[in-house]
Amino acid sequence: MKVTVVGAGNVGATVAECVARKDMANEVVLIDIQEGVAQGKALDLWESAPIHQFDTTLTGGSDYALTEGSDICVITAGLPRKPGMSRDDLLAKNASIVRSVTEAFTKTSPNAILIIVSNPLDVMTYVAYMTSGFPSHRVMGMAGVLDTARYRAFLATELNVSVKDIQAMLLGGHGDTMVPLPRYTTIAGTPVTDLLPESRINEIVERTKKGGGEIVGLMGTSAWYAPGAAAAEMCEAIIKDSNRVVPAAAWCTGEYGCDGMFIGVPVKLGREGVKEIVEIELDEAEQKLMQESAEHVRVNVEALERIEAGASA
Ligand code: LAC
Repeated sequence: MKVTVVGAGNVGATVAECVARKDMANEVVLIDIQEGVAQGKALDLWESAPIHQFDTTLTGGSDYALTEGSDICVITAGLPRKPGMSRDDLLAKNASIVRSVTEAFTKTSPNAILIIVSNPLDVMTYVAYMTSGFPSHRVMGMAGVLDTARYRAFLATELNVSVKDIQAMLLGGHGDTMVPLPRYTTIAGTPVTDLLPESRINEIVERTKKGGGEIVGLMGTSAWYAPGAAAAEMCEAIIKDSNRVVPAAAWCTGEYGCDGMFIGVPVKLGREGVKEIVEIELDEAEQKLMQESAEHVRVNVEALERIEAGASA
């Protein structure tokens, strides 16, 4: 198994590290326009192999010839958020980066699975899908695994229980309109709604929605440990063909009332990529939040199309 990670910034390097440390791939290639940074981080990680005891080899550079025959490509390239910026502010710049990366990568890895991490996530996944011409099951965006991880971490702190005993599902776009689902959140089988008052759950849900922004506010740039670990978890489900059911931005054709768009939904992940979109029952309020989130993603896709139509006119 060969995994390419495009973008050797903090997120990309963390994806490479997490994939290597799980010892599930033969090879990780780190690509960046800054050749020395990609080479250096790959070498530094490889030099940690004897300590961490993994056999995954790591190489880096800026030449896509290195990526030939990859099974998975995680695209993290793009500008990160600065304080005061929303993920949507990155739209046009990151779209052109994601497009050129996708073009370069897919030439020599036509059978790979693409996992997009660049923001705004749902729109960038769409850009990669359109550019690659890949079947939709081989293109997905990483957001829900990260967002549920944040949600579960906050709940673990609140309830003073192990993160291992918290299960949660979350839908919608990767932004402030994401839809955590307390009804589908359990602590060792007990619904969280039995353990915490509604007002406290709502506060945790709000914190989750703004979880990325909280980190940007603290550090002046966006997060990387949890996003990197989340993308690596998706790689693991694909490589091991494990049929994990996790939230991811997937191409919807009517599921959850979303048609012709990438948005966060529960998917079954395995060797072919998205094997299935899992439809769970939503009540009216949840369905309404999902529609609002879908509307937000649609507005962004249209905004990008307008910017690009203007640019080429
Ligand atoms: C975040 C970025 C990766 O949520 O979108 O931190």
